[in-house]
Amino acid sequence: MTPDSPQPSPIRLNDYQPPTHLIDQVALTFRLDPQATRVLSEIRFRPNSARPGRHDLRLDGENLTLIVAAVDGHPVTATPDATGLTLPAAMLPDGPFTFTAEVEIAPAANTALEGLYMSNGMYCTQCEAEGFRKITFYPDRPDVMAPFRVRIESDLPVLLSNGNPLGQGEGWAEWHDPWPKPAYLFALVAGDLLAHSAAFTTASGRAVALNIWVRHGDEGRCAYAMDSLIRSMRWDETAYGREYDLDVFNIVAVDDFNMGAMENKGLNIFNSKYVLALPETATDDDFGRIEAIIAHEYFHNWTGNRITCRDWFQLCLKEGLTVFRDQQFTGDMRSHAVKRIEDVLTLRARQFREDGGPLAHPVRPDRYVEINNFYTATVYEKGAEVIGMLKRLVGDADYARALDLYFTRHDGEAATIEDWLAVFQDTTGRDLSQFKRWYTEAGTPRLTVTEDWQADTGLFTLTFAQHNPPTPGQPEKGAKVIPIALGLLNPNGDEVMPTTMLAMTAMTQSFAFQSTADGWQQVVAEGPDRVPGAVSTRPIASILRGFSAPVLLERDTSPEERAFLLAHDTDPFNKWEAGRALAKDVLARMITAGATPGPDWLDALARVAVDDSLDPAFRALALRLPGEDDMAQTLHAAGHVPDPARIHAARRAMGDAVARRLAPHLPGLFDALAEPGPFTPEARAAGRRALRLAALGYLSRVDGGARAEAAFRQADNMTEEVGALACLLDIGRGQAELAAFESRWGADRLVMDKWFTLQLLHAAPEATAQAVERLTAHPAFDMKNPNRFRAVIGALPGNHAGFHHASGDCYRLLADWLLKLDPLNPQTAARMSTAFDSWSRYDADRQGMIRDQLRRILAVPGLSRDLGEMAGRMLG
Ligand code: PHE
Ligand code: ZN
Repeated sequence: MTPDSPQPSPIRLNDYQPPTHLIDQVALTFRLDPQATRVLSEIRFRPNSARPGRHDLRLDGENLTLIVAAVDGHPVTATPDATGLTLPAAMLPDGPFTFTAEVEIAPAANTALEGLYMSNGMYCTQCEAEGFRKITFYPDRPDVMAPFRVRIESDLPVLLSNGNPLGQGEGWAEWHDPWPKPAYLFALVAGDLLAHSAAFTTASGRAVALNIWVRHGDEGRCAYAMDSLIRSMRWDETAYGREYDLDVFNIVAVDDFNMGAMENKGLNIFNSKYVLALPETATDDDFGRIEAIIAHEYFHNWTGNRITCRDWFQLCLKEGLTVFRDQQFTGDMRSHAVKRIEDVLTLRARQFREDGGPLAHPVRPDRYVEINNFYTATVYEKGAEVIGMLKRLVGDADYARALDLYFTRHDGEAATIEDWLAVFQDTTGRDLSQFKRWYTEAGTPRLTVTEDWQADTGLFTLTFAQHNPPTPGQPEKGAKVIPIALGLLNPNGDEVMPTTMLAMTAMTQSFAFQSTADGWQQVVAEGPDRVPGAVSTRPIASILRGFSAPVLLERDTSPEERAFLLAHDTDPFNKWEAGRALAKDVLARMITAGATPGPDWLDALARVAVDDSLDPAFRALALRLPGEDDMAQTLHAAGHVPDPARIHAARRAMGDAVARRLAPHLPGLFDALAEPGPFTPEARAAGRRALRLAALGYLSRVDGGARAEAAFRQADNMTEEVGALACLLDIGRGQAELAAFESRWGADRLVMDKWFTLQLLHAAPEATAQAVERLTAHPAFDMKNPNRFRAVIGALPGNHAGFHHASGDCYRLLADWLLKLDPLNPQTAARMSTAFDSWSRYDADRQGMIRDQLRRILAVPGLSRDLGEMAGRMLG
């Protein structure tokens, strides 16, 4: 894209028009060949009564060689253009007709991994969002739904598509999917695969065959994914009353995949990273992600497939809801408290960052150039938060009733956010028009709170003010509905008012509370209606419990009050949050004022570390220091210009101070948390390992790495092997262990991804550019494999001080690699480019260097629409 070739014009929500034609039936035949696959299609069309009159039929199609096409057997003379084929109204019958076509495509040449492509000798597809148009001519939009019949011809032994098997023979197989679906849910797989199988019986007695298909040699690594699938299926029946609806459910693991996984009807396709796991090869985090992603894709069968999106602006309809559901599931399987803390950590790191920068967009965007650029933290994670808020506001019972209505009212349809909100309005009688702003307005609201205590009346008043900052294209915003979960404690640490949900609807709003015979209660602010005789002392407020809304809470709290909440809050999220806020305050003062951590904070942290009444997973989270990127974001929001080198040095000093303070407890903690017996991936054991490794990390700073070296040698699981290695790298050691790791795991792609990432994350700031150069020159670096590219280039911004080193070398290297990847795989290149979106936080030199790289990218002729849109938006 040269500066004079204008950006492609955006697609707009307001321009939505129903399709001119609908489809009753699709039949496809694939004659597979790496260079010349033939796709024969037979599509039964009918004019859409929602679009009266006669219309041309526009079929999408990209990179297709048209062999022959016909309408009701009459050859089509129209020729395709770069994006599709138009059948003029004049050549179309008034009523239903059949369009047939034969096209040729080259899956082996498909490096973008969209449409039909090859990975390690197997054929597979990725059609979301607009990949089906690279397979054949079709109205490639989610509001055109049809049942599919598919015949695959190939010598490969395993031939799969959506739905139920119809039959198979020597060199062919046929599938039928009775559930009408949009083309983005189409899938086909062919390869020399083995299945790990199990059986499932649904609540109403339907027998379902479950298969996880993998390459030979990987069949022993599927047990955890299968167990997760079975638990997901059962959970969706009990928690949402949703049963599976086909005779088979197939999952296929592929090594080359742009995203995590894909919910194709009855044939989920997964990045092998999120399927394959053994204790020796996968960490506790890997097991957790496998469980969550298996669940997520399975849950899409109802939220996404049975009810899909009318258009891509409604992406959060399926993604926000499905993320919300997978979060509930993980909470039920593991720990709600720990899950909530982890989710908020990622929300803040990824979504708040996005929302505060040039890429900010509403949960439901109203324009895009390339839809692949909108599979974002905002659509997914904030989309899930919005549903959480809705549930908090209406309550669990009405949430359940609204969801039932959603499933019955919209089953088989392509729906919108308006449809979604309507089921809540119809169920509860609430007007949700103000709440809808969460979907249409970007930006993270800032919520300030002031407290007032009247000792004579015993009235405690909290006054909240919300500020909705401007975002690109949205200078002004209205007040949001903000659910604020509040609890009150008395100075002894007893809870005197259990969690109460306040619904803030105005820009500024006060809530008053008084002590009554039944404890503290919310009262009308005006009028001293205090119950006579009730004893009252000023309570301590625990605000935004469970992180009840995705806002930045700004509160002038003293360190003493934070330490009090860390010690006494009954809400585990706010307990953790209090410790987190303390740590961030301490670290901020170390960075900006050269302070040293005081004994109060260190003592408070030590008390949590050794408190055996607390869940080890919670203690591990409490011991995790705030990240450097997080601090840069926080300092910037507080009006400072963050200096990455200072942040890095201060955080290291903080870690050393913690290590010295905890030193007497660490060996005991480390030894006591050793798990007896064989490895189990379940949450309790994982939490103990997490705390044990946190202890090992601090221990390494005081013992020179002796324990970590021994732990690395003795590790019988990947969590501890890689955890001990990280401890060593963190103190500048571990070179021999890196070599040992490489010789042990050199042949295992997924494990070697960890080896690449670790080295980059732990490179010293001044040595990070060299590390990128060394690792990308390694014979096992393969830019065509997205996992490997992400393991190196995608990990680079995670080394904050290295990426932002004053030389600007890493900015240049990242831009170089994005430009190398872009012609092969624009989707992944565009995604990795978001590392540049935080440029405005930094000093003028860094801003200039990053913007120069973005301009350099934008000036490249032939740049993809994907990367062009991202670079353009980041430059503003
Ligand atoms: N729909 C997939 C998911 O969330 C994500 C995805 C999008 C995968 C686009 C591939 C391509 O579950
Ligand atoms: Zn999804």
